[in-house]
Amino acid sequence: MSAPTYNIGLCGLGTVGQGVWKHFGRLRTDLEARLGARIELSRASVRDLSKARDVKVPSSKLTTDPLSIATDPDIHIVCELMGGTGVAREVTLAALKRGKIVVSANKALICAHGAEIFAAARRGGGAFLFEASVAGGIPIIKAVREGLVANRFPRIYGILNGTCNYILTKMEELDAPYASVLGEAKRLGYAESDESLDVEGWDTAHKASILAWLAHGVWVRPDKMIVEGINRITPADFKNAAALGFGIKLLAIITRDFKTDEISVRVHPTLLPQETVLARVSGVFNAISVTGDVVGTTVYIGRGAGQDATASAVISDLADAVSLLTHGKGAPQGSPDLPAAKGARLAPLERIRGRFYVRLTVADRPGVLARVATIMARNHMSIASVIQSPSETPDLASLVLTTHDSDERAMRVALRALARLESVREAPLLLRIGDLGD
Ligand SMILES: NC(=O)c1ccc[n+]([C@@H]2O[C@H](COP(=O)([O-])OP(=O)(O)OC[C@H]3O[C@@H](n4cnc5c(N)ncnc54)[C@H](OP(=O)(O)O)[C@@H]3O)[C@@H](O)[C@H]2O)c1
Repeated sequence: MSAPTYNIGLCGLGTVGQGVWKHFGRLRTDLEARLGARIELSRASVRDLSKARDVKVPSSKLTTDPLSIATDPDIHIVCELMGGTGVAREVTLAALKRGKIVVSANKALICAHGAEIFAAARRGGGAFLFEASVAGGIPIIKAVREGLVANRFPRIYGILNGTCNYILTKMEELDAPYASVLGEAKRLGYAESDESLDVEGWDTAHKASILAWLAHGVWVRPDKMIVEGINRITPADFKNAAALGFGIKLLAIITRDFKTDEISVRVHPTLLPQETVLARVSGVFNAISVTGDVVGTTVYIGRGAGQDATASAVISDLADAVSLLTHGKGAPQGSPDLPAAKGARLAPLERIRGRFYVRLTVADRPGVLARVATIMARNHMSIASVIQSPSETPDLASLVLTTHDSDERAMRVALRALARLESVREAPLLLRIGDLGD
């Protein structure tokens, strides 16, 4: 019997698309032997046909109409590598409606339209595979969905944005302000010209939403999460954190209390004990700690973005797609359809507990600390430590408080009251202290 042939259409031939084209060409013979099928990268779409590209694609294979690839009856697998939530959604749904397999790296699309997309995959009888959408080259989707299938997940947390981790690492290493490190990250191509999606935490929130759904079967939109970015952190915060035994990382934290069935999904800069594995993950690397109730804690570290790492994840999905077409097995359908998800709901702020780090820029005069302490006490926040240091601006001082265990709602009320004090001269900076273990 001759081997079946499967045709792949690449919608998007930018950073990731060209990486897939390049590596797939190199790996094709091996993949075909391993999968027992012929695999053809038969079409690709771009926006601008005249753009110079690093890979050579015959012009007969190129189009500017990605929808024509999604609806082409000869294409079995559609790889959506355009990004965005407009055309990408149309292309994805059109392909799934026709029973095709869609491979995607598009976390923004999955976060915004995941429920619709997975329902379309089920209805159409195809599949939607998305390994590259979270943590680039780290096979975290497979790990959670397949390798750790015996587990429920009380806690998953991780560094999911390489740009932010690069900026935080350099600020700490060089004792340099945020703006200058961001400028350098842009020059090196580690940050986009519009950096807001990364540094304000939204990209991490998209990935957290996907992981939360995968682990718990519940879609949590970023507007229902606590999402805070890294752009107000200063070199002094790293010094303060180090004096207290911590590093600072932008983390996505997904927890579930199986007694109350409450889930919390949040993204914020977090003080992590220096000795933990994730505190030592530096530069553009990503890392994820997954705690399962059977396996205990497992940790994954690797490149979270970039052409090669992301292409590695996309090609892994392409191989699963071919397996699925050939044998009807391999890659499970997208939806976990977890019975355990039923009844799970978001924890209210008063049940999200932890310790806090608050930096205040205050008038440098007697009595200020007493007023701050009164507000904290009034809100039942117990102070664990105080670091006072002169500010760079004359007559101002920096006051850093850490708290004992408290809850988000009380902290927010206290923060608003602190911000209203006449002696507090800038919006307070709030960081969370993560006693998360590895
Ligand atoms: N870059 C990474 O490291 C990385 C990592 C993980 C996930 N991802 C995800 O992977 C996806 C692709 O990212 P990328 O960095 O490869 O993006 P990119 O370099 O901007 O490439 C996008 C590609 O899609 C084409 N395109 C965009 N909009 C189009 C439209 N409306 N119609 C037709 N073609 C269109 C572009 O055509 P032209 O080339 O003609 O402009 C380009 O080839 C995104 O969802 C991203 O979030 C990226």
